[in-house]
Amino acid sequence: MSSLSPLLDSTTVGVSFVIAVTGLVAISKWKGSQSLPYPPGPPPDPIIGNARAMGSDELERVFAAWGKKYGDVNYVTVVGQPIIVLNSYQAARDLLEKRSGIYSSRPRMVMLSELMGWGDVLSHQRVGPRFRKHRGIIQEQFSAKQISQYMHIQRKEAYATLADLGNTPDDLMKHLKRVLHNGALTAAGTILNVTYGYTVKDCNDPLVTLADECTSATIAGGGPGSLLCDLVPALKYWPTWAPFSGFKKHAVYTRSLVERFFDEPYQWIKTHMVEGTAKQCITVDLMETMRTQSGPYRASETIDTTDVLHIGSVLYAGESTDLSTFLQTSAILKAFVLALLLHPGVFSKVREEIDQKTGKERLVDFDDRDSLPYFECVMKEVIRWGCPIPLGMPHQLTENDTYQGYSMPKDATVMFNAWFVLYPEPEQFMPERFWGKMDTEVARQVNAVFGFGRRVCPGKAFAESNIFLIMSNIIATMDLTKAVDEAGVPITPPVEYTKSFIK
Ligand code: HEM
Repeated sequence: MSSLSPLLDSTTVGVSFVIAVTGLVAISKWKGSQSLPYPPGPPPDPIIGNARAMGSDELERVFAAWGKKYGDVNYVTVVGQPIIVLNSYQAARDLLEKRSGIYSSRPRMVMLSELMGWGDVLSHQRVGPRFRKHRGIIQEQFSAKQISQYMHIQRKEAYATLADLGNTPDDLMKHLKRVLHNGALTAAGTILNVTYGYTVKDCNDPLVTLADECTSATIAGGGPGSLLCDLVPALKYWPTWAPFSGFKKHAVYTRSLVERFFDEPYQWIKTHMVEGTAKQCITVDLMETMRTQSGPYRASETIDTTDVLHIGSVLYAGESTDLSTFLQTSAILKAFVLALLLHPGVFSKVREEIDQKTGKERLVDFDDRDSLPYFECVMKEVIRWGCPIPLGMPHQLTENDTYQGYSMPKDATVMFNAWFVLYPEPEQFMPERFWGKMDTEVARQVNAVFGFGRRVCPGKAFAESNIFLIMSNIIATMDLTKAVDEAGVPITPPVEYTKSFIK
Protein backbone atom coordinates (compact mmCIF):
# COMPACT_ATOMS: atom_id res chain seq x y z
CA MET A 1 0.00 0.00 0.00
CA SER A 2 2.58 2.43 1.11
CA SER A 3 4.58 1.83 -2.07
CA LEU A 4 1.45 2.65 -4.17
CA SER A 5 0.71 5.96 -2.47
CA PRO A 6 3.51 7.97 -4.04
CA LEU A 7 2.50 6.52 -7.43
CA LEU A 8 -1.14 7.48 -6.89
CA ASP A 9 -0.05 10.87 -5.75
CA SER A 10 2.12 11.51 -8.75
CA THR A 11 -0.65 10.18 -11.07
CA THR A 12 -3.21 12.42 -9.40
CA VAL A 13 -0.90 15.38 -9.64
CA GLY A 14 -0.15 14.56 -13.29
CA VAL A 15 -3.83 14.20 -14.22
CA SER A 16 -4.74 17.38 -12.33
CA PHE A 17 -1.97 19.22 -14.11
CA VAL A 18 -3.16 18.05 -17.57
CA ILE A 19 -6.76 18.99 -16.74
CA ALA A 20 -5.69 22.39 -15.46
CA VAL A 21 -3.54 23.12 -18.52
CA THR A 22 -6.26 21.89 -20.92
CA GLY A 23 -8.79 24.06 -19.09
CA LEU A 24 -6.53 27.10 -19.23
CA VAL A 25 -5.84 26.57 -22.93
CA ALA A 26 -9.57 26.21 -23.62
CA ILE A 27 -10.41 29.32 -21.60
CA SER A 28 -7.67 31.38 -23.23
CA LYS A 29 -8.74 30.13 -26.67
CA TRP A 30 -12.33 31.06 -25.90
CA LYS A 31 -11.31 34.44 -24.50
CA GLY A 32 -8.96 34.94 -27.45
CA SER A 33 -11.74 34.18 -29.90
CA GLN A 34 -13.99 36.66 -28.09
CA SER A 35 -11.49 39.45 -28.34
CA LEU A 36 -10.53 38.83 -31.95
CA PRO A 37 -12.35 40.71 -34.69
CA TYR A 38 -14.59 38.98 -37.19
CA PRO A 39 -13.20 38.64 -40.74
CA PRO A 40 -13.62 41.75 -42.91
CA GLY A 41 -16.66 42.18 -45.11
CA PRO A 42 -19.01 44.74 -46.61
CA PRO A 43 -20.73 47.13 -44.18
CA PRO A 44 -24.18 45.93 -43.07
CA ASP A 45 -27.44 47.90 -43.23
CA PRO A 46 -29.15 48.56 -39.89
CA ILE A 47 -31.18 45.58 -38.63
CA ILE A 48 -31.22 43.56 -41.86
CA GLY A 49 -27.43 43.43 -42.09
CA ASN A 50 -26.26 42.34 -45.55
CA ALA A 51 -29.63 40.87 -46.56
CA ARG A 52 -29.93 43.00 -49.70
CA ALA A 53 -26.67 41.68 -51.15
CA MET A 54 -27.43 38.12 -50.05
CA GLY A 55 -30.70 38.23 -51.98
CA SER A 56 -28.80 38.50 -55.29
CA ASP A 57 -29.43 35.73 -57.80
CA GLU A 58 -25.77 35.91 -58.84
CA LEU A 59 -24.39 35.52 -55.38
CA GLU A 60 -21.15 33.95 -56.62
CA ARG A 61 -20.30 37.23 -58.37
CA VAL A 62 -21.21 39.24 -55.30
CA PHE A 63 -18.94 37.01 -53.21
CA ALA A 64 -16.18 37.26 -55.81
CA ALA A 65 -16.30 41.06 -55.56
CA TRP A 66 -16.09 40.86 -51.76
CA GLY A 67 -13.16 38.48 -52.07
CA LYS A 68 -11.27 40.96 -54.25
CA LYS A 69 -12.02 43.85 -51.96
CA TYR A 70 -11.83 42.33 -48.47
CA GLY A 71 -9.75 39.15 -48.81
CA ASP A 72 -10.23 35.38 -48.74
CA VAL A 73 -12.52 35.16 -45.74
CA ASN A 74 -15.48 37.52 -45.34
CA TYR A 75 -17.99 37.98 -42.58
CA VAL A 76 -21.52 39.26 -43.11
CA THR A 77 -24.76 39.03 -41.23
CA VAL A 78 -28.39 38.72 -42.24
CA VAL A 79 -30.72 39.89 -39.49
CA GLY A 80 -28.09 39.00 -36.92
CA GLN A 81 -27.31 35.55 -38.35
CA PRO A 82 -23.54 35.32 -39.01
CA ILE A 83 -22.38 34.10 -42.41
CA ILE A 84 -18.76 33.37 -43.28
CA VAL A 85 -17.85 33.40 -46.96
CA LEU A 86 -14.75 31.51 -48.08
CA ASN A 87 -13.36 32.97 -51.26
CA SER A 88 -10.21 30.88 -51.64
CA TYR A 89 -9.50 27.20 -52.06
CA GLN A 90 -6.89 27.36 -49.29
CA ALA A 91 -9.33 28.81 -46.76
CA ALA A 92 -11.98 26.25 -47.74
CA ARG A 93 -9.50 23.40 -47.33
CA ASP A 94 -8.14 24.73 -44.05
CA LEU A 95 -11.60 24.99 -42.54
CA LEU A 96 -14.08 22.68 -44.29
CA GLU A 97 -11.54 19.88 -44.84
CA LYS A 98 -8.90 20.06 -42.13
CA ARG A 99 -11.31 21.16 -39.38
CA SER A 100 -14.24 19.25 -40.73
CA GLY A 101 -15.05 17.97 -37.22
CA ILE A 102 -16.60 21.36 -36.45
CA TYR A 103 -17.41 22.72 -39.93
CA SER A 104 -19.71 19.97 -41.20
CA SER A 105 -23.22 20.56 -39.97
CA ARG A 106 -25.95 22.20 -42.03
CA PRO A 107 -27.68 25.45 -41.10
CA ARG A 108 -31.38 25.45 -40.32
CA MET A 109 -33.28 25.79 -43.61
CA VAL A 110 -36.84 26.55 -42.65
CA MET A 111 -38.33 26.68 -46.13
CA LEU A 112 -36.56 23.71 -47.66
CA SER A 113 -36.25 21.39 -44.69
CA GLU A 114 -39.20 22.22 -42.49
CA LEU A 115 -41.90 23.58 -44.79
CA MET A 116 -41.17 21.65 -47.97
CA GLY A 117 -40.19 18.51 -46.10
CA TRP A 118 -36.64 17.84 -47.27
CA GLY A 119 -35.14 17.93 -43.77
CA ASP A 120 -34.74 14.17 -43.35
CA VAL A 121 -32.62 13.53 -46.43
CA LEU A 122 -28.87 13.34 -45.96
CA SER A 123 -27.98 16.54 -47.79
CA HIS A 124 -30.03 18.57 -45.29
CA GLN A 125 -29.41 16.63 -42.10
CA ARG A 126 -27.49 18.24 -39.33
CA VAL A 127 -24.57 16.27 -37.93
CA GLY A 128 -25.80 13.54 -35.55
CA PRO A 129 -26.41 9.77 -35.40
CA ARG A 130 -28.90 9.74 -38.28
CA PHE A 131 -26.56 11.73 -40.49
CA ARG A 132 -23.73 9.30 -39.72
CA LYS A 133 -25.91 6.29 -40.46
CA HIS A 134 -27.16 7.60 -43.82
CA ARG A 135 -23.76 8.91 -44.83
CA GLY A 136 -22.10 5.57 -43.94
CA ILE A 137 -24.58 3.58 -46.01
CA ILE A 138 -24.39 5.86 -49.04
CA GLN A 139 -20.59 6.03 -48.94
CA GLU A 140 -20.50 2.26 -48.82
CA GLN A 141 -22.79 2.00 -51.85
CA PHE A 142 -20.74 4.44 -53.91
CA SER A 143 -17.24 3.37 -52.88
CA ALA A 144 -14.76 2.77 -55.70
CA LYS A 145 -15.12 -1.01 -55.23
CA GLN A 146 -18.89 -0.93 -55.26
CA ILE A 147 -19.34 1.34 -58.29
CA SER A 148 -17.41 -1.06 -60.50
CA GLN A 149 -20.49 -3.26 -60.14
CA TYR A 150 -22.65 -0.55 -61.69
CA MET A 151 -20.55 -0.30 -64.85
CA HIS A 152 -22.77 -2.56 -66.91
CA ILE A 153 -25.76 -0.34 -66.10
CA GLN A 154 -23.77 2.79 -66.95
CA ARG A 155 -22.74 1.29 -70.30
CA LYS A 156 -26.26 0.25 -71.17
CA GLU A 157 -27.64 3.68 -70.37
CA ALA A 158 -24.86 5.52 -72.21
CA TYR A 159 -25.22 3.46 -75.36
CA ALA A 160 -28.99 3.93 -75.37
CA THR A 161 -28.47 7.68 -75.27
CA LEU A 162 -25.98 7.60 -78.12
CA ALA A 163 -28.55 5.73 -80.18
CA ASP A 164 -31.21 8.35 -79.34
CA LEU A 165 -28.88 11.21 -80.18
CA GLY A 166 -27.88 9.55 -83.44
CA ASN A 167 -31.49 9.00 -84.48
CA THR A 168 -32.76 12.52 -83.77
CA PRO A 169 -29.79 14.85 -83.30
CA ASP A 170 -31.93 18.03 -83.41
CA ASP A 171 -33.44 17.00 -80.10
CA LEU A 172 -30.10 17.07 -78.35
CA MET A 173 -31.24 19.05 -75.31
CA LYS A 174 -34.35 16.97 -75.03
CA HIS A 175 -32.23 13.85 -75.17
CA LEU A 176 -29.86 15.11 -72.57
CA LYS A 177 -32.86 15.70 -70.41
CA ARG A 178 -34.49 12.46 -71.40
CA VAL A 179 -31.21 10.79 -70.86
CA LEU A 180 -30.82 12.38 -67.53
CA HIS A 181 -34.33 12.03 -66.31
CA ASN A 182 -35.27 8.91 -67.89
CA GLY A 183 -33.27 5.77 -67.77
CA ALA A 184 -32.24 6.02 -71.36
CA LEU A 185 -28.96 7.35 -70.20
CA THR A 186 -26.26 7.73 -67.70
CA ALA A 187 -27.44 9.87 -64.85
CA ALA A 188 -31.06 9.26 -64.01
CA GLY A 189 -31.26 5.92 -65.72
CA THR A 190 -28.33 4.61 -63.80
CA ILE A 191 -29.38 6.10 -60.48
CA LEU A 192 -32.94 4.78 -60.73
CA ASN A 193 -31.61 1.38 -61.69
CA VAL A 194 -28.99 1.26 -58.98
CA THR A 195 -31.32 2.60 -56.30
CA TYR A 196 -34.63 0.90 -57.14
CA GLY A 197 -33.90 -1.53 -59.96
CA TYR A 198 -36.32 0.66 -61.91
CA THR A 199 -36.08 1.04 -65.67
CA VAL A 200 -37.71 4.11 -67.13
CA LYS A 201 -39.75 3.53 -70.25
CA ASP A 202 -40.17 6.93 -71.85
CA CYS A 203 -40.18 10.66 -71.21
CA ASN A 204 -43.64 10.44 -69.65
CA ASP A 205 -42.58 7.92 -67.07
CA PRO A 206 -44.45 8.67 -63.80
CA LEU A 207 -41.37 8.64 -61.56
CA VAL A 208 -39.48 10.90 -63.94
CA THR A 209 -42.40 13.32 -64.22
CA LEU A 210 -42.74 13.37 -60.46
CA ALA A 211 -39.02 14.04 -60.00
CA ASP A 212 -39.25 16.84 -62.53
CA GLU A 213 -42.26 18.48 -60.88
CA CYS A 214 -40.79 18.11 -57.44
CA THR A 215 -37.44 19.57 -58.42
CA SER A 216 -38.99 22.49 -60.30
CA ALA A 217 -41.36 23.32 -57.43
CA THR A 218 -38.52 23.17 -54.94
CA ILE A 219 -36.24 25.37 -56.99
CA ALA A 220 -39.04 27.85 -57.67
CA GLY A 221 -39.55 28.26 -53.94
CA GLY A 222 -35.86 28.56 -53.15
CA GLY A 223 -35.67 32.29 -53.80
CA PRO A 224 -36.35 35.31 -51.61
CA GLY A 225 -39.40 33.74 -49.89
CA SER A 226 -37.12 30.98 -48.71
CA LEU A 227 -34.53 33.46 -47.48
CA LEU A 228 -37.14 35.42 -45.57
CA CYS A 229 -38.45 32.27 -43.91
CA ASP A 230 -34.97 31.19 -42.91
CA LEU A 231 -34.38 34.61 -41.39
CA VAL A 232 -37.68 34.81 -39.57
CA PRO A 233 -38.55 31.16 -38.77
CA ALA A 234 -41.86 32.20 -37.18
CA LEU A 235 -43.09 32.88 -40.73
CA LYS A 236 -43.48 29.16 -41.17
CA TYR A 237 -46.71 29.50 -39.17
CA TRP A 238 -48.08 32.18 -41.52
CA PRO A 239 -51.62 31.06 -42.50
CA THR A 240 -52.23 30.26 -46.16
CA TRP A 241 -55.40 32.42 -46.13
CA ALA A 242 -53.52 35.54 -44.95
CA PRO A 243 -52.18 38.23 -47.30
CA PHE A 244 -48.64 37.68 -48.67
CA SER A 245 -49.02 33.94 -48.17
CA GLY A 246 -47.82 33.00 -51.68
CA PHE A 247 -44.61 31.51 -50.27
CA LYS A 248 -46.57 29.36 -47.82
CA LYS A 249 -49.02 28.09 -50.44
CA HIS A 250 -46.09 27.19 -52.64
CA ALA A 251 -44.42 25.37 -49.76
CA VAL A 252 -47.59 23.38 -49.02
CA TYR A 253 -47.91 22.42 -52.69
CA THR A 254 -44.24 21.41 -52.87
CA ARG A 255 -44.54 19.36 -49.70
CA SER A 256 -47.34 17.30 -51.21
CA LEU A 257 -45.04 16.51 -54.15
CA VAL A 258 -42.09 15.77 -51.88
CA GLU A 259 -44.16 13.30 -49.85
CA ARG A 260 -45.23 11.52 -53.04
CA PHE A 261 -41.66 11.60 -54.20
CA PHE A 262 -40.49 9.74 -51.09
CA ASP A 263 -43.38 7.31 -51.11
CA GLU A 264 -44.11 6.27 -54.72
CA PRO A 265 -40.81 4.56 -55.57
CA TYR A 266 -40.93 2.89 -52.16
CA GLN A 267 -44.44 1.51 -52.80
CA TRP A 268 -43.35 0.42 -56.26
CA ILE A 269 -40.42 -1.60 -54.98
CA LYS A 270 -42.45 -3.05 -52.11
CA THR A 271 -45.04 -4.37 -54.55
CA HIS A 272 -42.32 -5.93 -56.68
CA MET A 273 -40.70 -7.52 -53.66
CA VAL A 274 -44.01 -9.09 -52.70
CA GLU A 275 -44.45 -10.34 -56.26
CA GLY A 276 -40.87 -11.61 -56.30
CA THR A 277 -39.98 -9.46 -59.32
CA ALA A 278 -37.78 -6.82 -57.64
CA LYS A 279 -34.24 -6.59 -58.98
CA GLN A 280 -31.18 -6.47 -56.75
CA CYS A 281 -30.62 -2.81 -55.83
CA ILE A 282 -29.77 -0.53 -52.91
CA THR A 283 -33.36 -0.27 -51.68
CA VAL A 284 -33.89 -4.04 -51.75
CA ASP A 285 -30.68 -4.46 -49.73
CA LEU A 286 -31.87 -1.84 -47.26
CA MET A 287 -35.26 -3.44 -46.88
CA GLU A 288 -33.69 -6.82 -46.40
CA THR A 289 -31.48 -5.34 -43.67
CA MET A 290 -34.55 -3.70 -42.13
CA ARG A 291 -36.44 -7.00 -42.13
CA THR A 292 -33.68 -9.13 -40.65
CA GLN A 293 -31.70 -6.38 -38.92
CA SER A 294 -28.62 -7.99 -40.46
CA GLY A 295 -27.53 -8.42 -44.04
CA PRO A 296 -25.69 -6.26 -46.54
CA TYR A 297 -25.34 -3.27 -44.21
CA ARG A 298 -23.42 -2.97 -41.00
CA ALA A 299 -25.09 -5.11 -38.41
CA SER A 300 -24.74 -2.32 -35.86
CA GLU A 301 -27.14 -0.10 -37.80
CA THR A 302 -30.83 -0.40 -37.10
CA ILE A 303 -32.61 0.50 -40.29
CA ASP A 304 -36.24 1.60 -40.31
CA THR A 305 -38.75 2.57 -42.99
CA THR A 306 -37.90 6.26 -42.86
CA ASP A 307 -34.22 5.42 -43.45
CA VAL A 308 -35.20 3.41 -46.52
CA LEU A 309 -37.44 6.21 -47.82
CA HIS A 310 -34.92 8.95 -47.31
CA ILE A 311 -31.79 7.15 -48.44
CA GLY A 312 -33.53 6.10 -51.65
CA SER A 313 -34.82 9.58 -52.34
CA VAL A 314 -31.58 11.42 -51.69
CA LEU A 315 -30.05 9.32 -54.42
CA TYR A 316 -32.99 9.42 -56.80
CA ALA A 317 -33.20 13.20 -56.62
CA GLY A 318 -33.49 13.83 -52.94
CA GLU A 319 -30.99 16.58 -53.08
CA SER A 320 -33.12 18.34 -55.58
CA THR A 321 -33.65 20.93 -52.93
CA ASP A 322 -30.22 22.19 -53.76
CA LEU A 323 -28.61 19.81 -56.09
CA SER A 324 -30.35 16.99 -57.79
CA THR A 325 -27.99 14.26 -58.86
CA PHE A 326 -29.77 14.38 -62.22
CA LEU A 327 -29.63 18.11 -62.56
CA GLN A 328 -25.98 18.41 -61.71
CA THR A 329 -24.90 15.83 -64.21
CA SER A 330 -27.33 17.29 -66.74
CA ALA A 331 -25.90 20.79 -66.15
CA ILE A 332 -22.40 19.47 -66.74
CA LEU A 333 -23.37 17.64 -69.94
CA LYS A 334 -25.09 20.76 -71.27
CA ALA A 335 -21.98 22.78 -70.45
CA PHE A 336 -19.94 20.17 -72.32
CA VAL A 337 -22.01 20.50 -75.49
CA LEU A 338 -21.93 24.29 -75.30
CA ALA A 339 -18.18 24.45 -74.64
CA LEU A 340 -17.29 22.19 -77.55
CA LEU A 341 -19.65 24.02 -79.90
CA LEU A 342 -17.97 27.27 -79.00
CA HIS A 343 -14.45 25.79 -79.21
CA PRO A 344 -14.22 23.64 -82.33
CA GLY A 345 -10.41 23.54 -81.99
CA VAL A 346 -10.74 21.72 -78.67
CA PHE A 347 -13.27 19.36 -80.21
CA SER A 348 -10.92 18.39 -83.10
CA LYS A 349 -7.99 17.88 -80.77
CA VAL A 350 -9.86 15.68 -78.33
CA ARG A 351 -11.54 13.75 -81.16
CA GLU A 352 -8.10 13.00 -82.62
CA GLU A 353 -6.88 11.65 -79.29
CA ILE A 354 -9.94 9.42 -78.92
CA ASP A 355 -9.75 8.19 -82.53
CA GLN A 356 -6.13 7.22 -82.05
CA LYS A 357 -7.08 5.21 -79.01
CA THR A 358 -10.07 3.40 -80.50
CA GLY A 359 -8.91 3.30 -84.12
CA LYS A 360 -12.44 4.55 -84.92
CA GLU A 361 -13.55 0.95 -84.59
CA ARG A 362 -15.09 0.75 -81.17
CA LEU A 363 -16.69 2.82 -78.44
CA VAL A 364 -14.71 4.25 -75.56
CA ASP A 365 -14.81 2.22 -72.35
CA PHE A 366 -13.94 2.90 -68.72
CA ASP A 367 -10.44 1.44 -68.92
CA ASP A 368 -9.48 3.87 -71.71
CA ARG A 369 -9.68 6.77 -69.31
CA ASP A 370 -6.07 6.62 -68.09
CA SER A 371 -4.71 6.84 -71.63
CA LEU A 372 -6.71 9.91 -72.75
CA PRO A 373 -4.78 12.74 -71.08
CA TYR A 374 -6.18 15.58 -73.21
CA PHE A 375 -9.72 14.29 -72.78
CA GLU A 376 -9.12 14.32 -69.02
CA CYS A 377 -8.16 18.03 -69.24
CA VAL A 378 -11.32 18.76 -71.24
CA MET A 379 -13.46 16.88 -68.76
CA LYS A 380 -11.93 18.69 -65.78
CA GLU A 381 -12.39 22.02 -67.52
CA VAL A 382 -16.04 21.24 -68.35
CA ILE A 383 -16.69 20.34 -64.70
CA ARG A 384 -14.98 23.56 -63.57
CA TRP A 385 -16.55 25.82 -66.21
CA GLY A 386 -20.01 24.31 -65.90
CA CYS A 387 -19.76 24.13 -62.08
CA PRO A 388 -23.44 23.31 -61.39
CA ILE A 389 -23.55 24.49 -57.79
CA PRO A 390 -21.24 27.50 -57.73
CA LEU A 391 -21.70 28.01 -54.00
CA GLY A 392 -21.70 24.36 -52.97
CA MET A 393 -24.04 23.68 -50.09
CA PRO A 394 -23.85 25.73 -46.89
CA HIS A 395 -22.09 24.19 -43.91
CA GLN A 396 -22.52 25.22 -40.30
CA LEU A 397 -19.82 25.77 -37.71
CA THR A 398 -20.65 23.98 -34.46
CA GLU A 399 -18.00 25.51 -32.13
CA ASN A 400 -16.30 28.87 -31.71
CA ASP A 401 -13.08 28.93 -33.69
CA THR A 402 -10.31 31.26 -34.83
CA TYR A 403 -8.67 31.52 -38.25
CA GLN A 404 -5.95 33.84 -39.50
CA GLY A 405 -6.39 36.04 -36.45
CA TYR A 406 -10.16 36.31 -36.84
CA SER A 407 -12.96 35.03 -34.70
CA MET A 408 -15.28 32.49 -36.34
CA PRO A 409 -18.45 32.30 -34.25
CA LYS A 410 -20.29 29.07 -33.41
CA ASP A 411 -23.49 28.56 -35.44
CA ALA A 412 -22.23 30.69 -38.34
CA THR A 413 -23.29 29.51 -41.77
CA VAL A 414 -20.17 28.86 -43.84
CA MET A 415 -20.38 29.27 -47.61
CA PHE A 416 -17.73 28.48 -50.17
CA ASN A 417 -17.44 30.20 -53.54
CA ALA A 418 -16.42 27.35 -55.85
CA TRP A 419 -16.99 29.44 -58.95
CA PHE A 420 -14.54 32.17 -58.04
CA VAL A 421 -11.81 30.23 -56.32
CA LEU A 422 -11.45 27.78 -59.15
CA TYR A 423 -8.82 29.67 -61.07
CA PRO A 424 -8.23 33.02 -62.61
CA GLU A 425 -10.47 34.03 -65.51
CA PRO A 426 -13.17 31.59 -64.42
CA GLU A 427 -15.33 32.40 -67.42
CA GLN A 428 -12.72 31.30 -69.97
CA PHE A 429 -12.92 27.70 -71.21
CA MET A 430 -9.26 26.56 -71.33
CA PRO A 431 -8.58 22.81 -70.95
CA GLU A 432 -4.88 23.59 -71.42
CA ARG A 433 -4.75 25.02 -67.92
CA PHE A 434 -4.52 21.41 -66.72
CA TRP A 435 -2.10 20.04 -69.32
CA GLY A 436 0.81 18.30 -67.57
CA LYS A 437 -0.60 19.34 -64.20
CA MET A 438 -2.97 16.49 -63.43
CA ASP A 439 -1.02 15.45 -60.34
CA THR A 440 -0.76 18.94 -58.98
CA GLU A 441 -2.87 21.15 -56.80
CA VAL A 442 -3.99 23.02 -59.94
CA ALA A 443 -6.04 20.02 -61.06
CA ARG A 444 -6.99 18.83 -57.60
CA GLN A 445 -8.72 22.12 -56.90
CA VAL A 446 -11.46 21.18 -59.34
CA ASN A 447 -12.60 18.67 -56.73
CA ALA A 448 -13.95 21.67 -54.83
CA VAL A 449 -16.95 21.46 -57.17
CA PHE A 450 -17.90 18.36 -55.17
CA GLY A 451 -17.58 20.03 -51.77
CA PHE A 452 -15.39 19.35 -48.78
CA GLY A 453 -14.64 17.30 -45.69
CA ARG A 454 -17.29 15.12 -44.09
CA ARG A 455 -19.86 16.52 -46.50
CA VAL A 456 -17.95 15.93 -49.70
CA CYS A 457 -20.22 14.52 -52.40
CA PRO A 458 -20.36 10.73 -51.89
CA GLY A 459 -21.40 10.31 -55.55
CA LYS A 460 -18.31 12.00 -57.00
CA ALA A 461 -16.57 8.94 -58.47
CA PHE A 462 -19.85 7.59 -59.79
CA ALA A 463 -20.83 10.94 -61.34
CA GLU A 464 -17.40 11.34 -62.94
CA SER A 465 -17.46 7.89 -64.48
CA ASN A 466 -20.91 8.62 -65.93
CA ILE A 467 -19.72 11.92 -67.32
CA PHE A 468 -16.59 10.28 -68.74
CA LEU A 469 -18.49 7.57 -70.58
CA ILE A 470 -21.10 9.77 -72.17
CA MET A 471 -18.82 12.69 -73.09
CA SER A 472 -16.07 10.54 -74.59
CA ASN A 473 -18.56 8.54 -76.65
CA ILE A 474 -20.37 11.61 -77.94
CA ILE A 475 -16.99 12.89 -79.14
CA ALA A 476 -16.09 9.49 -80.59
CA THR A 477 -19.29 9.06 -82.55
CA MET A 478 -20.71 12.50 -83.41
CA ASP A 479 -19.89 15.84 -84.93
CA LEU A 480 -20.97 18.84 -82.93
CA THR A 481 -21.75 21.79 -85.16
CA LYS A 482 -23.83 24.92 -84.73
CA ALA A 483 -27.36 24.92 -86.05
CA VAL A 484 -27.98 27.39 -88.90
CA ASP A 485 -30.77 29.95 -89.22
CA GLU A 486 -33.09 30.33 -92.22
CA ALA A 487 -30.45 32.32 -94.08
CA GLY A 488 -27.91 29.56 -93.50
CA VAL A 489 -25.95 31.57 -90.93
CA PRO A 490 -24.61 29.51 -88.00
CA ILE A 491 -26.31 30.34 -84.70
CA THR A 492 -23.89 30.86 -81.82
CA PRO A 493 -25.59 29.78 -78.60
CA PRO A 494 -25.25 32.26 -75.73
CA VAL A 495 -23.48 31.24 -72.54
CA GLU A 496 -26.41 31.72 -70.20
CA TYR A 497 -27.26 30.01 -66.97
CA THR A 498 -30.55 29.56 -65.23
CA LYS A 499 -30.70 31.96 -62.32
CA SER A 500 -31.23 29.58 -59.43
CA PHE A 501 -29.16 27.71 -56.96
CA ILE A 502 -28.51 25.07 -59.62
CA LYS A 503 -27.15 26.33 -62.89
C1 HEM B 1 -21.58 16.19 -61.43
C2 HEM B 1 -22.36 15.72 -60.53
C3 HEM B 1 -22.34 16.12 -59.08
C4 HEM B 1 -21.86 17.25 -58.46
C5 HEM B 1 -21.16 18.46 -59.08
C6 HEM B 1 -22.12 17.10 -57.03
C7 HEM B 1 -21.78 18.04 -56.06
C8 HEM B 1 -22.12 17.95 -54.74
C9 HEM B 1 -21.86 18.99 -53.75
C10 HEM B 1 -21.16 20.33 -53.99
C11 HEM B 1 -22.34 18.54 -52.55
C12 HEM B 1 -22.29 19.29 -51.21
C13 HEM B 1 -20.94 19.06 -50.58
C14 HEM B 1 -20.69 19.87 -49.33
O1 HEM B 1 -21.64 20.18 -48.59
O2 HEM B 1 -19.51 20.20 -49.05
C15 HEM B 1 -22.92 17.22 -52.80
C16 HEM B 1 -23.53 16.46 -51.82
C17 HEM B 1 -24.10 15.24 -52.09
N1 HEM B 1 -24.07 14.51 -53.27
FE1 HEM B 1 -23.32 15.14 -55.02
N2 HEM B 1 -22.75 15.89 -56.82
C18 HEM B 1 -22.90 15.27 -58.04
C19 HEM B 1 -23.47 14.03 -58.28
C20 HEM B 1 -23.95 13.20 -57.32
C21 HEM B 1 -24.44 11.86 -57.55
C22 HEM B 1 -24.49 11.14 -58.90
C23 HEM B 1 -24.86 11.39 -56.33
C24 HEM B 1 -25.47 10.04 -56.00
C25 HEM B 1 -24.88 8.96 -56.14
C26 HEM B 1 -24.62 12.41 -55.35
C27 HEM B 1 -24.93 12.31 -54.00
C28 HEM B 1 -24.74 13.33 -53.09
C29 HEM B 1 -25.23 13.28 -51.70
C30 HEM B 1 -26.03 12.15 -51.07
C31 HEM B 1 -24.83 14.48 -51.09
C32 HEM B 1 -25.10 14.93 -49.64
C33 HEM B 1 -23.90 14.62 -48.77
C34 HEM B 1 -24.01 15.19 -47.36
O3 HEM B 1 -24.73 16.16 -47.14
O4 HEM B 1 -23.35 14.63 -46.48
N3 HEM B 1 -24.06 13.49 -55.97
N4 HEM B 1 -22.77 16.88 -54.13
